[in-house]
Amino acid sequence: MAIVAEHEHREQRSGPEVQASEWDARYCERDGSMWSGRPNGRLVAEVADIVPGRVLDVGCGEGADAVWLAQRGWTVTAIDISDVAVRRARAAAESAGATVEWICGDALQTRFPARSFDLVSMQYPALPKAAGDRALRSLLDAVRRGGLLLAVYHDLDDEHREHMRSQGFDPADYVGADDLGELLGHEFTVELHAVEPRVNPPPGNPHIADVVVRARRC
Ligand SMILES: C[S@@+](CC[C@H](N)C(=O)[O-])C[C@H]1O[C@@H](n2cnc3c(N)ncnc32)[C@H](O)[C@@H]1O
Repeated sequence: MAIVAEHEHREQRSGPEVQASEWDARYCERDGSMWSGRPNGRLVAEVADIVPGRVLDVGCGEGADAVWLAQRGWTVTAIDISDVAVRRARAAAESAGATVEWICGDALQTRFPARSFDLVSMQYPALPKAAGDRALRSLLDAVRRGGLLLAVYHDLDDEHREHMRSQGFDPADYVGADDLGELLGHEFTVELHAVEPRVNPPPGNPHIADVVVRARRC
């Protein structure tokens, strides 16, 4: 019984509504933007030479990647669980004259058409493990045959992890690069799974290395 109760407690703490309100609160902690407003350097480096197609930006935050992709000719769908982030992202797209399909919702509960995106981008995603493997697999199903999954995570040392825990965010509760790698199975060819220097990080940012997973659906 104790195990069931603990499991339920974790589910409640990490359910979509709780995640959404926690992220909204984080975004509202400051008046201005939370992120730099620039597209993520690794995304830019990996995608710059790809012929644009359909892209899904998972956990799009304030929309800098989605806007950049749209400006490069991609047809962009961008989803974030935080209403505050999506409102900021919409405003950024409007002022840039970029067209993006914005979705405010849980990427792990939203059903995207299978095999429909040329690129699924996850830049520093914070997807809870509690949602389960099946939900993540279903999201990965959105990558079309021959299409790319690009997932970029902070490379965290013990000090970073401890600092994040002290801020109420335990990285162990979230799907990491290794968890994702295990799910890719035979359906994807992993082209890159490595620690790489962060490309063009925001000035003063303590995260200077990424774990990059680039995988192509067979
Ligand atoms: C660390 S931020 C990264 C934001 C953006 N990709 C960037 O690089 O600036 C993680 C984002 O994931 C969003 N998020 C967390 N859980 C999510 C979920 N289940 N579905 C969709 N978005 C989620 C958060 O609201 C937040 O905006």
